[in-house]
Amino acid sequence: MEERRSNRGWPGGAAVVGAGTMGLGVAECFAAAGIRVVLTDATPELTREAKARLVRRARGHAEAGLLSDEAAGRAEAVEIADDVAGAISEADLVFEAVPEDLGLKEEILGSCSEAAPDDAVIVSNTSSLPISDLSGFVVRPGRFCGMHWFNPPEWTPGVEVIPAAATGEDVVGRLVAFLRSIGKRPAVVGDGPGFVANRIQNALFLEAVRCVEEGLASAREVDEVVRSCFGFRLPFFGPFQVADMAGLDVYENVLDVLKGSLGERFETPGSLRDLVEKGRTGTKSGAGFLRYTDEERERLLLERDRRYAALNELLKDFPPVDAGSGP
Ligand SMILES: NC(=O)c1ccc[n+]([C@@H]2O[C@H](COP(=O)([O-])OP(=O)(O)OC[C@H]3O[C@@H](n4cnc5c(N)ncnc54)[C@H](O)[C@@H]3O)[C@@H](O)[C@H]2O)c1
Repeated sequence: MEERRSNRGWPGGAAVVGAGTMGLGVAECFAAAGIRVVLTDATPELTREAKARLVRRARGHAEAGLLSDEAAGRAEAVEIADDVAGAISEADLVFEAVPEDLGLKEEILGSCSEAAPDDAVIVSNTSSLPISDLSGFVVRPGRFCGMHWFNPPEWTPGVEVIPAAATGEDVVGRLVAFLRSIGKRPAVVGDGPGFVANRIQNALFLEAVRCVEEGLASAREVDEVVRSCFGFRLPFFGPFQVADMAGLDVYENVLDVLKGSLGERFETPGSLRDLVEKGRTGTKSGAGFLRYTDEERERLLLERDRRYAALNELLKDFPPVDAGSGP
C-alpha cells in the first residue's frame, strides 16, 4: 500500500479551484499528505458533486489497497466552498485547474489574486498556455508560478514547475521543497511551448501516428514497440543517459539515415555533432551529454541491468492491458 508522505510544513492550507480530472486528483494527494484542502468548482451544485466523486475515489483507492484508510479519511474531510473567494480566503497555496481556456483562466486568476491572502502562492496547472501570459492576470505576479501535474496526479510522480519572468525565486524554492515533501519529483523548466513534457510527448505521438498512417504497423503494434523497446527504459533513464549508453556516434549515424529519408525534422542537432567531433561519444568514452568516471560508468551499467531485470519481473504480473479492439 502506498502511504503518501505527510507534509508537515508549508502549505498548511490549500484551495483547489476547478475540481475536474486534475483538480480532484491533486486535492486527494494534498489531503492525503495532511494539508487542509478546500475545493470549489463552477457552481455550488458542481462542487458538491465533485466532493462526492472525491470521496468515492479515495474510498475506491483504499479498498484497492492503494491508500491507507487514514489517508482516505483525510480526503473525505476535504472542505467545499460555493465560490472562489470562499475557497481561498485562508489558503497558503491556490491551485488553479479550470479548463484550458485563456479567457476563463484570466477571469479565475484575477478573482484568485483579489481574494487570496497577500502571502498566498497561486499556481496554474495549465498544460500549454504561456505562463508569462497567465502571470499578467495576477496582481503581484511574483507569487504566481506554473505547476503542471500529470494524469493521474495521485500516482504520477513528475511535476513541471514553470516560473514566469516575474515569479519570485523564493516561491519557486518553496514549491519545489513542498512537492518533494509529498513524494513528488519536481523539475523546474522554462516557459516554452508545451514546456518540456508535452513538447516531447507530442513529438513521440506524432511519429507514432505517422508510422500507422504510412502502414508500417498497426496502432497496437506501435504501442507494443514503444512500451517494450525503448519505452521500457524510461522509468529509469531519460533520453540523454539512454543516448550516452548507446553511443552518440551511433545516434548520429542513425539520424543521418533518417534525415535522408524523412527530411529536416531528423536533422542532427549541432550540439550532438560537436560532442561526437570532440570524441565525447557517451559512456564508452567517459563523456557524452554527461560525464562519467570509470567507477560511475560501471555503476550505471550495473544499475541499468539490475533495474531492467527487476522491471521484467514486474511486467510478468502486468501484461499489456487487453483493452480496445482494432480499427
Ligand atoms: N486532463 C489532463 O490529463 C491534464 C493534465 C495536465 C494538465 N491539465 C490541465 O489542467 C487543467 C484542468 O484540466 P482537467 O482535465 O482537470 O479539466 P476538467 O474539465 O476535467 O476539469 C475542469 C473543472 O473546472 C471546472 N470549472 C469550469 N469553470 C469554472 C469556474 N469558473 N470556476 C471554478 N471551476 C470551474 C469544471 O466544472 C471542471 O470540473 C487544464 O488547464 C488542463 O490543460 C490536464
